[in-house]
Amino acid sequence: MKTNGNTILITGGSAGIGFELAKQFSQLGNKVLITGRNADKLKQAADQLENVIPIAGDVTDPESTDRLLAKIKEDHPELNLVINNAGYTDVYELAANAGAYSKASREMETNYLSVVSLTEKLLPTLLKNEDSAIVNVTSIVAYFPQKMLPTYTASKSALKAYTDILRETFENRVNVFELIPPLVNTEFSKEIGGENGIPPKEVADELIRALEKNQWLVPVGMSKEFVTV
Ligand SMILES: NC(=O)c1ccc[n+]([C@@H]2O[C@H](COP(=O)([O-])OP(=O)(O)OC[C@H]3O[C@@H](n4cnc5c(N)ncnc54)[C@H](OP(=O)(O)O)[C@@H]3O)[C@@H](O)[C@H]2O)c1
Repeated sequence: MKTNGNTILITGGSAGIGFELAKQFSQLGNKVLITGRNADKLKQAADQLENVIPIAGDVTDPESTDRLLAKIKEDHPELNLVINNAGYTDVYELAANAGAYSKASREMETNYLSVVSLTEKLLPTLLKNEDSAIVNVTSIVAYFPQKMLPTYTASKSALKAYTDILRETFENRVNVFELIPPLVNTEFSKEIGGENGIPPKEVADELIRALEKNQWLVPVGMSKEFVTV
């Protein structure tokens, strides 16, 4: 698909991988909408870039999702690319009193259920517009489970399975990509040695190359050892 002239929604666009994607897509001549819970941080991020519009909100909050959808309908009906990037993890190991249920609930809400909800609500727009696509950001852990990220691993596996079925269901109508980062050096990965990870720029570079080639599976760095394209 083309990598300029799109209108792109990036959830979680104020930091890390989402911010780098916003930066590169804005430089390529796209209109980019970014979301995030902290409105000040989001505005500061958007102010650094051209043609990037901040729309504050939490992907797990149905009211803020409805506000986002109303804004898109009103001001950006030409939206044709959605990047589901916002994510949450708890770092722990399963044990009798680990609190796995509440941790898993938050991870599933953020990493999986919010994507299912937003996708369903945006499908009419994506099916109407030309050259539409969805990019779901999973993780290397969906292919190589990590004991210290037990329920996060499960939430990303759920997102991976949903993404496969979404691609099959909407073949030739909406292009569905899966971006599969390895360890990336962001705030998100601080607790798991993120400083040893790759820079977010490498993830964005790889996604842009994959979009150009219509390559649906987008393993980055070490993820290539587990995912055959
Ligand atoms: N970093 C890694 O090693 C790594 C590896 C594989 C996959 N991933 C995946 O890559 C994605 C991005 O991770 P990252 O490392 O770039 O994270 P990050 O640096 O922590 O940035 C996360 C972004 O998402 C926003 N966000 C978080 N929760 C949100 C919510 N409930 N609603 C709306 N926005 C929310 C944050 O802003 P606010 O806090 O203001 O909301 C921020 O803009 C995630 O899906 C993650 O699972 C990361």
